[in-house]
Amino acid sequence: MYETIRLDRRGAVAVLTINRPDKLNALNNEVHREGVLALDELKRDESVRVLVITGAGEKSFIAGADIGEFEGQTPVTQRNQFNEKTLFNALDAFPKPVIAMVNGFCLGGGNELAMACDLRIASESARFAQPEINLGIMCGGGGTQRLTHLIGEGRSMEMVLTGDMIDAETAHRFGLVNHIYPADQLEAETMKLAEKIAEKAPIALQLSKDAVKFASRSNLTKACAARSTSLQSASQPKTKRKALAHSSRSESPSSPENNERKIVNNESAMPISSMRGEGLTSQL
Ligand code: COA
Repeated sequence: MYETIRLDRRGAVAVLTINRPDKLNALNNEVHREGVLALDELKRDESVRVLVITGAGEKSFIAGADIGEFEGQTPVTQRNQFNEKTLFNALDAFPKPVIAMVNGFCLGGGNELAMACDLRIASESARFAQPEINLGIMCGGGGTQRLTHLIGEGRSMEMVLTGDMIDAETAHRFGLVNHIYPADQLEAETMKLAEKIAEKAPIALQLSKDAVKFASRSNLTKACAARSTSLQSASQPKTKRKALAHSSRSESPSSPENNERKIVNNESAMPISSMRGEGLTSQL
């Protein structure tokens, strides 16, 4: 069905692979188009709890926007393109947890795409850069915003103004990636993390993801207010029942042991009783 991406389902974890290894998985318009369609499909698929995004081959995660499509672009056409349905925007709005499994070059739009994911796990041989400045252009997929947010103004400024690559160890130290692993362990470790998250209650996951995103994008007062609202909807008996039902429905087989584990997971994800009231809000 798709030509530039591959979509595999491994239990509750879906793996979306950008599949243009001969072009180091550069993001062309078709990757954006197919990626947006795939995310729409995965959003509706209740059996999918977590998404992992990676690049085909051993050399590259994504080597940036497809330079071959730059011909004839003007600043205005480029701006319009980024305002359309891009994979960056679709990922940003995707309700389920997304992990970027960075298996090599993570450049330009590739780094922007990784940063639009919720977590980044990289191989020790991965390399990161925003090299747009070397082409006489600027980052268009959120690089100047998300990078600054993740690693701070000084480090972001240096990467954006020089276009230089940093290695995985530096990216880890900067907080650009959560964990790094030897290349031969990357997939197993990423899947382990994805499966761990996939076991949690899905509604609690989604509300928590929204709350963390909101917190990192707004001031503290607004973030606390929004968290309060999420918490209220999470504590509605109907929402809790739905979360539990959802958890156990796609769990096979539905043994009492499994149900018990889900309930524990759900409660640990939403310690409603202990968090209700002003106490927690004032601690945040
Ligand atoms: N867009 C389109 N094609 C790209 C690409 C991109 N961003 N990055 C790599 N490719 C293609 C190359 O043109 C080459 O294709 P070809 O074999 O048909 O000529 C193929 O991928 C392999 O790349 P190559 O440059 O031969 O590999 P390398 O190991 O020598 O260098 C890089 C790897 C990543 C350092 C180098 O490809 C590079 O600098 N790419 C551009 C990165 C960039 O500026 N991205 C941001 C764009 S805004």
